[in-house]
Order: sequence, then structure tokens, then C-alpha cells
Amino acid sequence: MSNIVVFGSQWGDEGKGKIVDMLAADSAAIVRFQGGNNAGHTLVVGGEKCILHLIPSGILHPGKICLIGNGVVLDPEVFLREIDTLAAKGLDVSPARLMVSKKAHVIVSYHRALDSAREGSRSSGAKIGTTGRGIGPCYEDKMHRCGIRAADLADPELLREKIKSALEEKNVLFSKLYGCEPMDPEQVFQELLPFAERLRPYLGDVSTAIEQAVAGGGTVLFEGAQGTHLDIDHGTYPFVTSSTTVSGNAASGSGCSPRMLERIIAIVKAYTTRVGGGPFATELLDATGDYLQEKGGEFGATTGRRRRCGWLDMVVLRESVRLNGPTELAVTKLDVLSGLPELKICVEYEYRGGRISHPPQEQNGMAYVTPVYETMPGWTEDITGVTSFSGLPKAAQAYLERMEALSGVPVGLVSVGPDRSQTFHR
Ligand code: GDP
Ligand code: IMO
Ligand code: MG
Repeated sequence: MSNIVVFGSQWGDEGKGKIVDMLAADSAAIVRFQGGNNAGHTLVVGGEKCILHLIPSGILHPGKICLIGNGVVLDPEVFLREIDTLAAKGLDVSPARLMVSKKAHVIVSYHRALDSAREGSRSSGAKIGTTGRGIGPCYEDKMHRCGIRAADLADPELLREKIKSALEEKNVLFSKLYGCEPMDPEQVFQELLPFAERLRPYLGDVSTAIEQAVAGGGTVLFEGAQGTHLDIDHGTYPFVTSSTTVSGNAASGSGCSPRMLERIIAIVKAYTTRVGGGPFATELLDATGDYLQEKGGEFGATTGRRRRCGWLDMVVLRESVRLNGPTELAVTKLDVLSGLPELKICVEYEYRGGRISHPPQEQNGMAYVTPVYETMPGWTEDITGVTSFSGLPKAAQAYLERMEALSGVPVGLVSVGPDRSQTFHR
């Protein structure tokens, strides 16, 4: 077995949680390395659904070590609530198997307030449609070097001082720019304290824990959040999230060498979805878009928002291949395409009077492309019970083969339903 990185190749919600849950069976440790509770990863086992926002998607497998790396931004309240929900289901969520990096940055109430204030102040076309979880403001503080790190939760005096200092600047923004009430540092501190106390036993050195898992003969599974086109550098800026979502960050965001990243799996939804604002070249604002949305149950796992739906975009996928270097594709939600008479795949864009095969890099350039499509025949059979490539209708096989040809990457896994069991190897 090899160490594995799982990443999203589109705009998130590709089914990363489902695939990580499945692969966790053969891993010793599962690590989240970026993002925060903007993520919503859905696991379905034996018909029972579980949505995780922060805790790695390996938690349902007894005995597996679950680690939250330094690259994550952690909301203590959300983390503890998630622990309580899992414990109520009888799962072991003790610090013996669950660890938060002391270097992870902490989301505080003023980050959430700033996220909402900023979104509220943007004009309708400029709204990013953030999840409102304080993700961007927390990463800003990290880069600004005034952030609170998880280790600080064990040092109340330092915590109090950092909150006071952070609010000196933020309160000017709240009161003078956004017209809202300033926040009382002592109140923010007192509200955080009980969470900090409960979180303390979970704090640890994730980098060393990874080293130990490998030294013990086990493999590590790195769980990406969001998707490549939401990446702060490579995504459709400024309509992106605030972290580095590409596979290479699995090393930096968890504290290990890039040489540890061996097998890299691109999770690809068989069509495309996006939640929130920003350009989406293959979006379908018609009955086919509604069909995908309804049949795919495309509602955000974090905010419950309707996901925008469209055809598969190979320009987007090819860029993801270039940026992440996948060794294989895991294609999800192929079952959702059953029943459509024909399927379209975007292979290039028309842009400024020419044809391009990669996304434009100018700000919002993606909003001005016109997709160039290839059309393939669809299939009518229900494929949710199929367990092998040869068991798929010929048209579904051809669709997967076309994805392989256009991306240059083999399909290693196929998912035909939400349940852990509805997955097979190519
Ligand atoms: P993630 O954020 O990448 O983990 O994905 P989400 O959990 O936000 O969204 C994926 C949704 O699709 C969830 O509701 C999953 O249960 C569901 N899902 C995953 N794989 C499949 C599949 O192959 N077929 C169907 N019909 N649903 C799937
Ligand atoms: P998973 O891991 C889909 C989107 C938001 C918004 C933008 C910025 O479940 O795939 P943020 O709150 O991060 O500042 O919002 O990014 N977004 C996601 N979209 N899936 C996600 O995570 C997302 N996390 C953030 O909708 O457009
Ligand atoms: Mg999701």
C-alpha cells in the first residue's frame, strides 16, 4: 500500500468524503491538511448518512488515527460539536485517536463576524457567496501574523492578549467601516475559554504522529477539502476559498515531506457543480441543469444552498491534472447521468476570437469563455447496483474512456451511488 492524497478536481463537493471513507479501511492515519468547516463531506454507510466538516472522513473506521494538520483553520465550537455527535453514535473520538495540530489556526467569533460583514458589504455581482464560517478572515490573520494557534488555547494569558490585540484593529473595521457593534475582547475570551479547555487534550504534534504512523508500517491518507478551482492561487480568483487546495499542499499543510505523497487521486464528479458566486462555463440554466440538481441531490452539505449544475468540463479537469499530478481518477455520481439522451463534454473554450484549451488567467476571464462541446450518447439503465466496469452500459464505458483519453489519466475508481458499497475499481 502507498500513501494517498485525495483532492477535488472541480469546485468542491465531488464526493471526496465518500472516497476517503472507503480508502480509510486500508490506511493507518487520515489527515485533513487545509480548509476548515467550510467543507462538508458526506459519508453513507449501510444507508446511514454522516456529514463531517472538520474531523477526517476516516473516523467511522475503528482504530484509525485521525489528524487535523497545521494547514487547517479550526473552529473549536464546531469541532467539539462534531465530536459530541459522533460520540452519541457510539464512535471512539477520544484523544487516543484524534489529534489537532498545535500549529493549526483557530477561528474566533470575530472571524465569522468579519466574514459576514464583508460579504454583506459587497454588491450582488461581487459577492463570493462564502460559507460565512470565518475561513477567509482566519487565514488573513495567519498571514498577517496575528492569528491564534491551537497551542495558544492552552495558555489563557497569551490567548487573552492575542484576542485583545486582534480586536484593536478589527473593532475599527466593525464600527467605522461596516457600521456594526465593536466586540468586547474580554467577552470573546470568556466565550472561548470553555471550548479551549475541552480542546486541550486533543492538541498534539501532527507531523510527528504522521512519522510514527509510517514507522509503524502503516500508510497515510491525506484528505483534501474544496476543489482545485477554488484554490487561492489557481482557482477562479477572486471567487475562491482562502487556502491552497491542490495536492502538493498535503505535505506542507500536514507537516511531512512531499516525497511521502505517492498515489494521488483526483475526485471527479461525472458532471460539474459549483456553490456560491463566480464563473462557471458549462453551467446549465435549463431543464437539464434542474435534472442534474434534483437527481444528484445537489444541495450544499454545509450551507444547504442549491448547487449550480452543468456539463463535465475537461478544460477544468486538464488544468487540475497539470496542477495536481493525479495517478488516477475516481469518477463519482456516474449514476446521476442515467436517463439523459445525450451527454456533452466541454473540450475547449472559445475566448477572445480564438480557441484555448486551458482556463484564461486574467481576473474573471472564465466568465467570458464559450464552451466547445463534444456530444456522446447517453444510457437509460439504472447503474446504481453495478459492481464492475464491464457491467456498465456500453455508453457509460465510452464516457469514462473519453474522460481518460481527454485527461491522459486512467480511471481507477467508479462510484455509482452515495453508499460506501456503491464503488468499484476499474
Ligand atoms: P465532498 O465535499 O467532496 O465530500 O462531497 P459532498 O459530500 O459535499 O457532496 C457529494 C454528495 O454526493 C453527497 O451527498 C454524497 O453522499 C453524494 N455522492 C457521492 N458519490 C455519489 C455517487 O456516486 N452517486 C450519487 N448518487 N451520490 C453520490
Ligand atoms: P467541500 O470540501 C463547495 C466555496 C463557497 C464560496 C467560496 C468561498 O465540501 O468540497 P469560503 O467560506 O471558503 O470563504 O467560501 O468557496 N466553498 C465550497 N464549495 N465545497 C466546499 O467544500 C466549499 N468550501 C468553500 O461556496 O463560493
Ligand atoms: Mg462538500
